[in-house]
Amino acid sequence: MQKANINFDYEIYHSINELNSTDQELLEEARSVTSIAYAPYSDFQVGAVALLSNGKKVKGTNQENASFPVGICAERTLLASAAMIHTNVPIITMAIAYNNLNAKSDVPVSPCGMCRQALHEYENRTKNPIRIILSGMEGKVFIIESASFLLPLSFSGDVLTKSID
Ligand code: THU
Repeated sequence: MQKANINFDYEIYHSINELNSTDQELLEEARSVTSIAYAPYSDFQVGAVALLSNGKKVKGTNQENASFPVGICAERTLLASAAMIHTNVPIITMAIAYNNLNAKSDVPVSPCGMCRQALHEYENRTKNPIRIILSGMEGKVFIIESASFLLPLSFSGDVLTKSID
């Protein structure tokens, strides 16, 4: 028997003011875009803004539905949009912010499991790590160098082989 261990480093900043100007701008935009989230059921507005390698930016917000499972998270709204508008262009950094309309929003929250899988796939298809910036509307900021760090022992399409030889 062997034991293995998976861990990763990430950066913690006390506030947005400690970030470089590019990251600050991206996080400010993610915070701002929370206001156009469609989250009437949870009142939990999520905004994501990505900077692509071609210099363009793509935004996403959560889009809820009266049939709750139909709703889609901000991150996957963004990824679908990026894949359509800028096909195969790597995402360099994605800032993700949230505004809980009924509580403080000052502690970073992390993408849900489904979004982690979607981010992982996007990294694979564009062969580029996606830096993730996480924060609420104020307070601490986390920066993670690759979205895939959030999904250890991940499932990937490599195993979906169509041939036995
Ligand atoms: N949500 C996101 O948009 N991104 C996440 O990473 C976590 C959760 C959304 C889904 C739902 O509309 C609301 O936040 C509450 O779960």
